[in-house]
Amino acid sequence: GLKPNWFVEDVAAEVISDLRRRLSGKALVAVSGGVDSLTAAVMVQRAIGSDNIYVVHVNTGLLRESESDRTLKTLEKLGFKNVFYVDASRLFLERLRGVTDPEEKRRIIAKTFAEVFAEKALELNRKVGGFKYLVQGTIYPDRVESGATGKATARIKSHHNVVMEAIPGLEIVEPLSEFYKDEVRKIARSLGIPDEIVTQHPFPGPGLAVRIVGEVTEEKLRILRKATRIVEEEFRKSGFYERVWQAFPALLSIRTVGVKGDERSYEYALALRVVESEDAMTASFAKLPWEFLEHVAERLVNEVEGVNRVLYDITHKPPATIEFE
Ligand code: XMP
Repeated sequence: GLKPNWFVEDVAAEVISDLRRRLSGKALVAVSGGVDSLTAAVMVQRAIGSDNIYVVHVNTGLLRESESDRTLKTLEKLGFKNVFYVDASRLFLERLRGVTDPEEKRRIIAKTFAEVFAEKALELNRKVGGFKYLVQGTIYPDRVESGATGKATARIKSHHNVVMEAIPGLEIVEPLSEFYKDEVRKIARSLGIPDEIVTQHPFPGPGLAVRIVGEVTEEKLRILRKATRIVEEEFRKSGFYERVWQAFPALLSIRTVGVKGDERSYEYALALRVVESEDAMTASFAKLPWEFLEHVAERLVNEVEGVNRVLYDITHKPPATIEFE
């Protein structure tokens, strides 16, 4: 937080040396596919070696197209040896069935994630043993507590959560707890994390579930996954991707009437959310060229089965949030 930017990679190197001195034993980490957890994992890997870090990737079923595959490939490329993939998509979907309240959805997802990860952690601890640390990708703005030190140290603390209840004596290690997002990106790049991940827009922990208004179903996830891929493709291609904070479709669980070919259709409406922001606390909708929006909307209605209308969200935050739930 208190370091000038040009200094960031050096500070990260100091954090890694500090971890090398302080850590001994095995570490566990859950890697989602986002830049924070991956960067934290690589820093600890550099400190304690690939043999001592165990990576778990949980597929919640709420991730984007190919996200799990890409994450696993990236982990392999980065030299991680102990990588465990848990496909829990069915469990998440089952538990979310019929649930429409946004806070309830978030609670279920957080709880299910913790359970699934704890179960895997416990299994690894039985088979391998020797786990002493739980690595988390918490960054400075995520911290609830105040009082950043600005020193080149990782935060190591004891804390209670489901995984640590399963494995007593585990300590939390947060190598990124002193860094802002743009600093994490620089560190990530210097550690060899692929550009596609480094430049990636923020993606919420509860995933696509907070971009589906109301109940999450397999059908809605299929639609939103495909729409998300198209929107990302078009934003990357046009260069708008790097110029906005976030750009994504959300599925409004309302269907409206349209015409496709000569046929009447009755299909879902998507909202396109594109915002500019410095820190996500406030945001303004991006005033993009109509021609570009027209092109994106055309692709969405033509290529995504089940969608016949695209709405552009022209509200700032506040009063609207960036995500829909
Ligand atoms: P909102 O919707 O509150 O989002 O304006 C602000 C920023 O936070 C991201 N976001 C999340 N990130 N877990 C996360 O890791 C979450 O549950 C979550 N909810 C929102 C959102 O994408 C935006 O960048």
